[in-house]
Amino acid sequence: MLNQYDIEYIIKCLKDGQSIPTEYKYSLFPTIQKEYELAYAGKMRKEDILSDTDEISNVPLQIEKTYNGDEHPSLDNWKNLLIFGDNLQVLKTIYYDKDPIISKNIKGKIKLVYIDPPFGTGDEYDGNKGQSAYSAKRKGADFVEFLRRRLILLREVMADDGVIFVRLDYHFGHYIKVIMDEVFGKNNFRNEIIINRFKRQLRNLNQFNHATDVLYFYSKTENYYFNEILIKRICSFCGAEKEPQWRGMHSPGLRQPPERTIMGKVYYPPKGRHWSYTQEKINALFEEGRIRIGENTTYTNILDEKVVGCPEYLQTEEIPVDSNWTDLKGYVFASSYPTENPEELLKRVIECCTQEGDLVMDCFAGSGTTLAVAEKLNRKWIGCDIGKLSMYTIQKRLLEISKSKDMVNPKKKYKRNARAFAVVTAGLYDLGKVFSLTEDKYKSFVKNLFDIEDMIPLQKAVKRSF
Ligand SMILES: C[S@@+](CC[C@H](N)C(=O)[O-])C[C@H]1O[C@@H](n2cnc3c(N)ncnc32)[C@H](O)[C@@H]1O
Repeated sequence: MLNQYDIEYIIKCLKDGQSIPTEYKYSLFPTIQKEYELAYAGKMRKEDILSDTDEISNVPLQIEKTYNGDEHPSLDNWKNLLIFGDNLQVLKTIYYDKDPIISKNIKGKIKLVYIDPPFGTGDEYDGNKGQSAYSAKRKGADFVEFLRRRLILLREVMADDGVIFVRLDYHFGHYIKVIMDEVFGKNNFRNEIIINRFKRQLRNLNQFNHATDVLYFYSKTENYYFNEILIKRICSFCGAEKEPQWRGMHSPGLRQPPERTIMGKVYYPPKGRHWSYTQEKINALFEEGRIRIGENTTYTNILDEKVVGCPEYLQTEEIPVDSNWTDLKGYVFASSYPTENPEELLKRVIECCTQEGDLVMDCFAGSGTTLAVAEKLNRKWIGCDIGKLSMYTIQKRLLEISKSKDMVNPKKKYKRNARAFAVVTAGLYDLGKVFSLTEDKYKSFVKNLFDIEDMIPLQKAVKRSF
């Protein structure tokens, strides 16, 4: 709060043409929305990102081809969509919801977004024949803002009960986690899931080899679908499958009432401990044959009596998956596209958060893993990528999907064709509108279009991009 002295001092500064000291910043312009947020150069206001004055970015979609069916995509007669173009423009087009190809069919209906953007490694990635696949050169604040704009739009086009998974690594993961807290709200953070990456065993590094990537899992609201996934019991240290074991049925601390009736006899727990399960749960475990008295164990109970034989329970065969997913591969090399994600990883993501018929989106589609797995698991899908090699790889992958492995029984082939899907291009701009932009708007349009960083003089950069 400003007192009378502050107010008079600020008025004097203004009258004298002096700058106002920065300590008055928050009193004059209080930040009401966030406890903390990431500050960096070029961070655009959310309102400006979503503003529909930027109609130039709202590019028309054009159907190039349809495969396995020839109807127009619409919700009644849904056709999966593979969109060639910059996902920022595509997301804006979905957000404005005016394009006849998608209008009223997508906005607010996306139940799951999975994205695996370039990680800002500074590298260029090629296909297995040396063809250029994609660039991860965008770094620093530029990378953070690139992804933030897309995350803001993604949140807007997701269903209210939708969820999002974002794959990243040590380069920018921690910054994007903060950005996702801002965009989706800290309360909607669900998990930071640890997954494998390429294994390296380089020596003499003076630091450890990076062994893991992360998936940030957020929901749009508190209301979302979540299906518990069970896996075989595994050793938490070595990952090897383990047989269920008989375990003592007591835990530290006292609880009231302490006693339980087990196989017709009353048992009090060992000193300082309580029985881990309620009477109802013990009865149910007994029915399943998962309770016994371990005859070789002797203990002193809370009544100071010596008891021979301690109640034990048998662990379940399966356990719920937790946030450690290093039981799955980090990457695979099936499609000859770089940094291809394993189908098993996408199966887990899709099965835990969607049901058959739900709409799944991946707007950094790469080799199309998300789309192929969504197809095999009977989900609707929309994919988008800006790379020609990606477009080629995805179409080939979907057209040959019957020869790929089944998701339920990976030893068998899938044996079905992909449902009808349309290949759509985004990015044929209305040149009349483009050339009538003011100079500043025109520069910013061209910079966005060709991913040009501000440091490069614009003229040179435009020439190079063509
Ligand atoms: C790491 S790859 C995704 C790999 C994918 N998860 C898979 O399993 O194959 C990142 C992809 O994002 C695409 N991409 C980068 N910037 C993009 C943009 N602005 N719009 C659409 N796609 C983009 C790249 O072309 C690249 O194919």
